[in-house]
Amino acid sequence: MTAATTTRDTLGRPLHDLRISVTDRCNFRCVYCMPKEVFGRGYRFMDRKELLSFEEIERLTRAFVAHGVGKIRITGGEPLLRRDLELLVGRLTGLGGLDVALTTNGALLPQKAEALVAAGLDRVTVSLDSLDDATFRTMNDVGFPVARVLDGIAAAAAAGLRVKVNAVVKRGVNDDQVVALARHFRGSGHILRFIEYMDVGATNGWRLDDVVPAAEIVSLVSAELPLEPAEENYRGEVARRFRYRDGSGEIGVIASVTQPFCGDCSRARISAEGRLYTCLFAAKGHDLRALVRGGADDAEIHAMIGRVWSRRADRYSEERSSRTTELPRVEMSYIGG
Ligand code: GTP
Ligand code: 5AD
Ligand code: SF4
Ligand code: SF4
Repeated sequence: MTAATTTRDTLGRPLHDLRISVTDRCNFRCVYCMPKEVFGRGYRFMDRKELLSFEEIERLTRAFVAHGVGKIRITGGEPLLRRDLELLVGRLTGLGGLDVALTTNGALLPQKAEALVAAGLDRVTVSLDSLDDATFRTMNDVGFPVARVLDGIAAAAAAGLRVKVNAVVKRGVNDDQVVALARHFRGSGHILRFIEYMDVGATNGWRLDDVVPAAEIVSLVSAELPLEPAEENYRGEVARRFRYRDGSGEIGVIASVTQPFCGDCSRARISAEGRLYTCLFAAKGHDLRALVRGGADDAEIHAMIGRVWSRRADRYSEERSSRTTELPRVEMSYIGG
């Protein structure tokens, strides 16, 4: 393989993270992500042949690595619904030198955790928005019990995976769960991160009133369990870290609405059908699958990725916040004095 170069976009941002979606399907219908009115019986999900094969994903990943990518996140839909996903994990960890992670709703972790570890995975991020069973069932909208996600987290930890937990906070829906979640995961070794509810997709009826600002989340937790700010782990980290003053661990907050982090955004995405997006909110993707299936050689694939990234100018969240004057902007460093 050719040595990796650092490819930069028009704002000087390197291409460092690659999020790869392996399926558009999910066994949940979270109201903010795949609402039933849109993703109901009539919705046409992709056929298997439309999805990138594991071989195609590996080949594309190599091309991204040559542009400087060091971190891969496997996503969906729900990635564990993709049959034999551990084979893909094995291919990607086998490339060597990459940080490979997986974002999952946790439902299938009891069956899958050991195979994922055997394939070389060392960490997962599990989405869990509430510990209250009724609220959780309402949010996933398929009546999935919270206890089974907790089983999934336990299975992941027992198999030796490091676990992060992501909780999307929506005003009036699960903001009463913030402190309960913090209490539950404090001291567990699992890092809990709260995420401001975002306007992803045009289908979730987003309103600014639905957002609980990260600063408010930190205050809620800190009032019960005192926190202090912690340093960022790496440049471009999306979560701001806060540690418990009594040494019992840390939480993170992802303030993509109130404190956008586009300036350091080094993430590219490949959708399940092989389109390359340079922003979470980008409407237009670039068809890598057509290129790969059309017989392009490695140099052509590499060149196309380089062309797309070097023209990139996306900064959606920053633009949104400059338009939205009533956004609650609160300095978070005041916490803990
Ligand atoms: P690690 O720090 O490596 O664990 O991962 P991560 O925080 O990059 O990934 P994760 O999938 O856990 O992302 C957490 C949340 O941050 C996501 O659920 C999104 O809500 C949000 N997020 C991730 N990437 C982006 C992005 O590029 N733009 C915006 N606006 N939000 C993002
Ligand atoms: N706002 C914020 N985060 C979201 N996620 C899905 N939809 C939204 C949204 N509208 C989160 C999931 C998961 C991660 C991949 O994205 O909860 O943790
Ligand atoms: Fe979306 Fe994840 Fe919920 Fe599935 S589990 S609907 S992918 S947020
Ligand atoms: Fe990156 Fe786009 Fe998210 Fe900004 S809005 S952080 S550019 S993905």
